[in-house]
Amino acid sequence: MPVYTAMVNIAGSTAVVTGGQRGLGRAIVDELMNRGASRIYATARVPMRSAEPIVRNVALDVTDTDSVAALAQIATDTTIVINNAGTSAGRPSLLKGQLDDIRAIFETNYFGALRVARAFAPILAENGGGALVDIHSVLSWAAGRGAYGDSKAALWPATNSLRMELERQHTLVTGVHVGYIDTDMVRTLDVPKIAPQAVATQILDGVERGLTEVLVDDISRRFKAALSGPVEGLEMR
Ligand SMILES: NC(=O)c1ccc[n+]([C@@H]2O[C@H](COP(=O)([O-])OP(=O)(O)OC[C@H]3O[C@@H](n4cnc5c(N)ncnc54)[C@H](OP(=O)(O)O)[C@@H]3O)[C@@H](O)[C@H]2O)c1
Repeated sequence: MPVYTAMVNIAGSTAVVTGGQRGLGRAIVDELMNRGASRIYATARVPMRSAEPIVRNVALDVTDTDSVAALAQIATDTTIVINNAGTSAGRPSLLKGQLDDIRAIFETNYFGALRVARAFAPILAENGGGALVDIHSVLSWAAGRGAYGDSKAALWPATNSLRMELERQHTLVTGVHVGYIDTDMVRTLDVPKIAPQAVATQILDGVERGLTEVLVDDISRRFKAALSGPVEGLEMR
Protein backbone atom coordinates (compact mmCIF):
# COMPACT_ATOMS: atom_id res chain seq x y z
CA MET A 1 0.00 0.00 0.00
CA PRO A 2 1.34 3.47 -0.78
CA VAL A 3 2.18 5.64 2.19
CA TYR A 4 0.06 8.76 2.49
CA THR A 5 1.84 12.00 3.31
CA ALA A 6 0.66 15.61 3.24
CA MET A 7 -1.71 16.54 0.44
CA VAL A 8 -0.46 19.04 -2.12
CA ASN A 9 -2.68 21.74 -3.56
CA ILE A 10 -2.56 22.09 -7.32
CA ALA A 11 -4.86 25.10 -7.36
CA GLY A 12 -2.57 28.11 -6.98
CA SER A 13 0.61 26.05 -7.48
CA THR A 14 3.54 26.72 -9.78
CA ALA A 15 4.65 23.63 -11.69
CA VAL A 16 7.58 22.61 -13.85
CA VAL A 17 6.79 19.88 -16.37
CA THR A 18 9.86 18.58 -18.18
CA GLY A 19 8.99 17.57 -21.71
CA GLY A 20 5.74 19.44 -21.19
CA GLN A 21 5.10 20.49 -24.76
CA ARG A 22 4.06 17.15 -26.22
CA GLY A 23 2.96 13.64 -25.29
CA LEU A 24 2.19 12.86 -21.67
CA GLY A 25 3.85 16.08 -20.51
CA ARG A 26 1.45 18.17 -22.58
CA ALA A 27 -1.52 16.29 -21.08
CA ILE A 28 -0.16 16.96 -17.58
CA VAL A 29 0.14 20.67 -18.39
CA ASP A 30 -3.49 20.72 -19.59
CA GLU A 31 -4.66 18.94 -16.43
CA LEU A 32 -2.66 21.31 -14.21
CA MET A 33 -4.49 24.19 -15.92
CA ASN A 34 -7.86 22.45 -15.40
CA ARG A 35 -7.09 22.20 -11.68
CA GLY A 36 -6.19 25.85 -11.27
CA ALA A 37 -2.38 25.94 -11.28
CA SER A 38 -1.24 29.57 -11.33
CA ARG A 39 1.85 29.17 -13.45
CA ILE A 40 3.39 26.32 -15.41
CA TYR A 41 6.87 26.07 -16.89
CA ALA A 42 6.57 23.61 -19.78
CA THR A 43 9.89 22.58 -21.26
CA ALA A 44 11.15 21.33 -24.61
CA ARG A 45 14.59 21.18 -26.13
CA VAL A 46 13.30 23.52 -28.83
CA PRO A 47 10.40 25.36 -27.17
CA MET A 48 7.36 26.53 -29.08
CA ARG A 49 5.49 29.75 -28.34
CA SER A 50 2.78 29.22 -25.70
CA ALA A 51 -0.82 30.19 -26.47
CA GLU A 52 -1.77 30.05 -22.77
CA PRO A 53 -0.96 33.08 -20.60
CA ILE A 54 -0.13 30.99 -17.52
CA VAL A 55 2.10 28.56 -19.43
CA ARG A 56 5.65 29.68 -19.97
CA ASN A 57 7.37 27.52 -22.55
CA VAL A 58 11.06 27.26 -21.74
CA ALA A 59 14.11 25.44 -23.10
CA LEU A 60 15.50 22.43 -21.27
CA ASP A 61 17.80 19.58 -22.14
CA VAL A 62 17.96 17.34 -19.07
CA THR A 63 21.27 15.87 -20.23
CA ASP A 64 22.92 19.30 -19.86
CA THR A 65 23.62 20.46 -16.29
CA ASP A 66 23.86 24.12 -17.38
CA SER A 67 20.46 23.90 -19.06
CA VAL A 68 18.90 22.49 -15.87
CA ALA A 69 20.59 25.21 -13.80
CA ALA A 70 19.26 27.90 -16.16
CA LEU A 71 15.71 26.60 -15.70
CA ALA A 72 16.14 26.56 -11.92
CA GLN A 73 17.21 30.21 -12.06
CA ILE A 74 14.02 31.15 -13.91
CA ALA A 75 11.53 28.93 -12.06
CA THR A 76 12.26 29.96 -8.46
CA ASP A 77 8.56 29.99 -7.55
CA THR A 78 8.11 26.27 -8.31
CA THR A 79 6.10 24.13 -5.89
CA ILE A 80 5.55 21.03 -8.06
CA VAL A 81 8.15 19.37 -10.31
CA ILE A 82 7.07 16.71 -12.79
CA ASN A 83 10.08 14.75 -14.03
CA ASN A 84 8.42 13.60 -17.25
CA ALA A 85 11.15 13.94 -19.93
CA GLY A 86 12.20 10.55 -21.22
CA THR A 87 13.51 8.71 -24.25
CA SER A 88 13.55 5.22 -25.69
CA ALA A 89 15.69 6.33 -28.64
CA GLY A 90 16.74 3.42 -30.79
CA ARG A 91 15.44 0.92 -28.21
CA PRO A 92 18.94 -0.58 -27.91
CA SER A 93 19.13 -4.23 -26.95
CA LEU A 94 21.51 -5.01 -24.10
CA LEU A 95 23.69 -7.36 -26.14
CA LYS A 96 23.41 -5.97 -29.66
CA GLY A 97 22.90 -2.24 -29.06
CA GLN A 98 25.78 0.26 -28.97
CA LEU A 99 26.96 0.97 -25.42
CA ASP A 100 26.87 4.70 -26.23
CA ASP A 101 23.17 4.41 -27.13
CA ILE A 102 22.50 2.57 -23.87
CA ARG A 103 24.37 5.27 -21.91
CA ALA A 104 22.41 8.00 -23.72
CA ILE A 105 19.13 6.52 -22.49
CA PHE A 106 20.39 6.53 -18.90
CA GLU A 107 21.70 10.08 -19.38
CA THR A 108 18.13 11.27 -20.04
CA ASN A 109 15.92 8.88 -18.07
CA TYR A 110 18.04 8.44 -14.94
CA PHE A 111 20.67 11.20 -14.71
CA GLY A 112 18.37 13.75 -16.34
CA ALA A 113 15.65 13.19 -13.77
CA LEU A 114 18.25 13.27 -11.01
CA ARG A 115 19.74 16.55 -12.31
CA VAL A 116 16.28 18.13 -12.18
CA ALA A 117 15.61 16.77 -8.68
CA ARG A 118 18.96 18.12 -7.40
CA ALA A 119 18.42 21.55 -8.95
CA PHE A 120 14.85 21.90 -7.66
CA ALA A 121 15.13 20.36 -4.18
CA PRO A 122 16.28 23.65 -2.61
CA ILE A 123 13.59 25.58 -4.49
CA LEU A 124 10.87 23.21 -3.27
CA ALA A 125 12.24 23.55 0.28
CA GLU A 126 12.21 27.34 0.03
CA ASN A 127 8.59 27.22 -1.19
CA GLY A 128 7.28 25.01 1.61
CA GLY A 129 7.94 21.45 0.41
CA GLY A 130 5.64 20.85 -2.53
CA ALA A 131 5.94 17.75 -4.68
CA LEU A 132 8.37 15.92 -6.94
CA VAL A 133 6.84 13.42 -9.37
CA ASP A 134 8.98 10.91 -11.28
CA ILE A 135 7.48 9.16 -14.28
CA HIS A 136 8.64 5.56 -14.20
CA SER A 137 7.08 2.72 -16.20
CA VAL A 138 5.77 -0.81 -15.81
CA LEU A 139 9.24 -1.54 -17.23
CA SER A 140 10.77 -0.52 -13.90
CA TRP A 141 9.65 -4.05 -12.96
CA ALA A 142 9.08 -5.94 -16.23
CA ALA A 143 12.07 -7.37 -18.11
CA GLY A 144 12.56 -7.62 -21.85
CA ARG A 145 12.78 -4.07 -23.16
CA GLY A 146 16.55 -3.54 -22.99
CA ALA A 147 18.17 -0.31 -21.85
CA TYR A 148 14.96 1.70 -21.70
CA GLY A 149 13.45 -0.64 -19.09
CA ASP A 150 16.74 -0.75 -17.20
CA SER A 151 16.84 3.05 -16.99
CA LYS A 152 13.31 3.11 -15.58
CA ALA A 153 14.26 0.35 -13.14
CA ALA A 154 17.18 2.52 -11.96
CA LEU A 155 14.94 5.54 -11.51
CA TRP A 156 12.52 3.65 -9.24
CA PRO A 157 14.82 3.24 -6.18
CA ALA A 158 16.28 6.68 -6.87
CA THR A 159 12.79 8.10 -6.41
CA ASN A 160 12.36 6.12 -3.21
CA SER A 161 15.70 7.34 -1.84
CA LEU A 162 14.91 10.92 -2.83
CA ARG A 163 11.68 10.59 -0.85
CA MET A 164 13.75 9.81 2.24
CA GLU A 165 16.22 12.63 1.55
CA LEU A 166 13.41 15.12 1.00
CA GLU A 167 11.29 14.01 3.94
CA ARG A 168 12.67 16.66 6.26
CA GLN A 169 11.69 19.47 3.93
CA HIS A 170 8.14 18.02 3.60
CA THR A 171 8.35 17.36 -0.13
CA LEU A 172 5.90 14.72 -1.38
CA VAL A 173 7.76 12.36 -3.74
CA THR A 174 5.50 10.36 -6.04
CA GLY A 175 6.54 7.59 -8.42
CA VAL A 176 4.30 6.76 -11.38
CA HIS A 177 4.13 3.37 -13.09
CA VAL A 178 2.23 2.89 -16.33
CA GLY A 179 2.09 0.63 -19.40
CA TYR A 180 1.80 1.86 -22.99
CA ILE A 181 0.57 5.45 -23.41
CA ASP A 182 -0.66 6.77 -26.76
CA THR A 183 2.22 9.17 -27.55
CA ASP A 184 5.01 9.54 -30.11
CA MET A 185 7.23 7.23 -28.03
CA VAL A 186 5.21 4.14 -28.98
CA ARG A 187 3.58 5.48 -32.16
CA THR A 188 4.83 2.53 -34.23
CA LEU A 189 3.82 -0.18 -31.74
CA ASP A 190 0.55 -1.96 -32.42
CA VAL A 191 -0.48 -2.56 -28.79
CA PRO A 192 -3.32 -1.38 -26.53
CA LYS A 193 -2.50 2.11 -25.24
CA ILE A 194 -3.96 4.35 -22.56
CA ALA A 195 -4.81 7.98 -23.40
CA PRO A 196 -2.28 10.50 -22.00
CA GLN A 197 -5.15 12.55 -20.53
CA ALA A 198 -6.25 9.56 -18.42
CA VAL A 199 -2.70 9.10 -17.14
CA ALA A 200 -2.38 12.82 -16.32
CA THR A 201 -5.64 12.71 -14.35
CA GLN A 202 -4.45 9.80 -12.22
CA ILE A 203 -1.05 11.39 -11.60
CA LEU A 204 -2.53 14.66 -10.37
CA ASP A 205 -5.22 12.85 -8.35
CA GLY A 206 -2.33 11.07 -6.65
CA VAL A 207 -0.44 14.29 -5.94
CA GLU A 208 -3.55 15.95 -4.53
CA ARG A 209 -4.13 12.93 -2.27
CA GLY A 210 -0.50 12.81 -1.14
CA LEU A 211 0.19 9.38 -2.67
CA THR A 212 3.77 8.19 -2.87
CA GLU A 213 3.01 5.76 -5.69
CA VAL A 214 0.55 5.84 -8.59
CA LEU A 215 -0.10 2.55 -10.39
CA VAL A 216 -2.02 3.78 -13.40
CA ASP A 217 -3.19 0.56 -15.02
CA ASP A 218 -3.74 -3.18 -14.55
CA ILE A 219 -0.43 -4.11 -16.14
CA SER A 220 1.48 -1.98 -13.61
CA ARG A 221 -0.46 -3.47 -10.73
CA ARG A 222 0.15 -6.99 -12.11
CA PHE A 223 3.92 -6.57 -12.42
CA LYS A 224 4.21 -4.91 -9.01
CA ALA A 225 2.46 -7.94 -7.50
CA ALA A 226 4.76 -10.27 -9.47
CA LEU A 227 7.86 -8.84 -7.74
CA SER A 228 7.27 -11.21 -4.84
CA GLY A 229 7.08 -14.28 -7.14
CA PRO A 230 9.59 -16.14 -9.33
CA VAL A 231 11.74 -13.92 -11.59
CA GLU A 232 10.27 -15.62 -14.68
CA GLY A 233 7.02 -13.88 -13.77
CA LEU A 234 8.72 -10.56 -14.53
CA GLU A 235 9.27 -11.33 -18.22
CA MET A 236 7.31 -9.18 -20.69
CA ARG A 237 7.21 -10.98 -24.05
N1 LIG B 1 4.55 6.31 -24.07
C1 LIG B 1 4.61 5.27 -23.26
O1 LIG B 1 4.15 4.16 -23.59
C2 LIG B 1 5.22 5.41 -21.89
C3 LIG B 1 4.99 4.39 -20.96
C4 LIG B 1 5.51 4.51 -19.67
C5 LIG B 1 6.25 5.62 -19.35
N2 LIG B 1 6.48 6.58 -20.29
C6 LIG B 1 7.26 7.74 -19.88
O2 LIG B 1 6.44 8.87 -19.94
C7 LIG B 1 7.26 10.03 -20.13
C8 LIG B 1 6.71 10.86 -21.28
O3 LIG B 1 6.89 10.13 -22.46
P1 LIG B 1 5.92 10.26 -23.72
O4 LIG B 1 5.19 9.00 -23.83
O5 LIG B 1 5.16 11.53 -23.67
O6 LIG B 1 7.01 10.27 -24.87
P2 LIG B 1 7.28 11.25 -26.08
O7 LIG B 1 6.02 11.58 -26.75
O8 LIG B 1 8.37 10.59 -26.86
O9 LIG B 1 7.85 12.56 -25.36
C9 LIG B 1 9.09 12.54 -24.73
C10 LIG B 1 9.23 13.85 -23.99
O10 LIG B 1 10.49 13.85 -23.31
C11 LIG B 1 11.19 15.03 -23.67
N3 LIG B 1 12.62 14.77 -23.73
C12 LIG B 1 13.25 13.71 -24.32
N4 LIG B 1 14.58 13.85 -24.18
C13 LIG B 1 14.80 14.99 -23.50
C14 LIG B 1 15.95 15.69 -23.05
N5 LIG B 1 17.19 15.21 -23.27
N6 LIG B 1 15.79 16.85 -22.37
C15 LIG B 1 14.55 17.34 -22.12
N7 LIG B 1 13.42 16.75 -22.54
C16 LIG B 1 13.53 15.59 -23.22
C17 LIG B 1 10.67 15.41 -25.05
O11 LIG B 1 10.88 16.79 -25.22
P3 LIG B 1 11.23 17.46 -26.64
O12 LIG B 1 9.98 18.17 -27.02
O13 LIG B 1 12.38 18.36 -26.34
O14 LIG B 1 11.59 16.34 -27.60
C18 LIG B 1 9.20 15.05 -24.93
O15 LIG B 1 8.45 16.08 -24.35
C19 LIG B 1 8.67 9.51 -20.36
O16 LIG B 1 9.42 9.55 -19.17
C20 LIG B 1 8.44 8.07 -20.76
O17 LIG B 1 9.57 7.26 -20.54
C21 LIG B 1 5.96 6.52 -21.53
